[in-house]
Amino acid sequence: MKFDRKTRSVDLNPRDPEFYGNPYPYYDAIRKECPAFYWNDYGMWCFAGFDDVNRLLRDKCFGRQILHVATREELGMPAPRPQLADFDAIEAHSLLELEPPAHTRLRVMINRAFVSRQVEKLRPDIETLTHATIDRFAEDGKVELIKAFAEPIPVSVIARMLGVPQEFNHQLLDWSHKMVRMYMFDTDDEIERDANGAAQEFAACLTELIAERRRKPTDDLISHMITSDRGGDRLSEDELISTSVLLLNAGHEATVHQTGNAVKAILENNLDHGSLFADAASTEAAI
Ligand code: HEM
Repeated sequence: MKFDRKTRSVDLNPRDPEFYGNPYPYYDAIRKECPAFYWNDYGMWCFAGFDDVNRLLRDKCFGRQILHVATREELGMPAPRPQLADFDAIEAHSLLELEPPAHTRLRVMINRAFVSRQVEKLRPDIETLTHATIDRFAEDGKVELIKAFAEPIPVSVIARMLGVPQEFNHQLLDWSHKMVRMYMFDTDDEIERDANGAAQEFAACLTELIAERRRKPTDDLISHMITSDRGGDRLSEDELISTSVLLLNAGHEATVHQTGNAVKAILENNLDHGSLFADAASTEAAI
């Protein structure tokens, strides 16, 4: 990593395994050296200090959307590319890209599924699924934790919540991986082609499923989103598709890596598992 104090810029390759394997010493150094810095590799200004980030996230001057302020040409943004049309169509209604009031409207429609009472109802099924998955590990005597545990459990849970049949789990993972690669550093033509193809297939699959649920609603989240009606306001077909894709992708991608990192932290820190879970139980009781 190299600092240029005069321009407050940093050279740091985000693909360097030494950095992403353990970014925290680098972040410490950046915070000490210049907490507001231009990251040359990304081509953007970044903020590393708690107070700055806290202020920026709360300041309504900043946000996800910008095209209501100035046009693409004025901002020097490239025009949308036809080879990403299907991917962009899903992104256009994604909660991740919206500001209130459009954001609030979509959030309200799905909030019900994430209140603790609803989430608690999932516990017995998740426990059964987790035990059945772990029980298979003993046969081989070794396990690749991400593939065998961290990936299948969240995708299965989020698909069940939405009402996507379990036989799609494998396909969902493939579509999701291809789409999520678009959020990573430095995409190329192949990544874009894969992401757009995945978005197209994913949307087509959900269109069929939504039509089925319109004919015969069940108690899953897709049926709930279809029938949600706030004073005559309903989600459009495009919003239903975007929100379902986001929930399926967001619902497992972050959880997979959180599980992997958590197990790594437990193993590396030699934590006593008994006391760890005793602490978790007492925190829950206190809440
Ligand atoms: C440990 C696991 C998870 C982590 C670390 C995580 C992390 C995050 C972060 C950092 C954001 C904000 C992204 C941004 O605004 O740029 C976010 C948003 C979101 N996450 Fe997660 N997430 C996790 C699990 C989940 C699960 C299980 C679901 C769904 C079942 C989910 C659904 C969402 C949704 C819908 C948003 C957008 C919210 C909004 O804009 O209102 N996430 N998540």
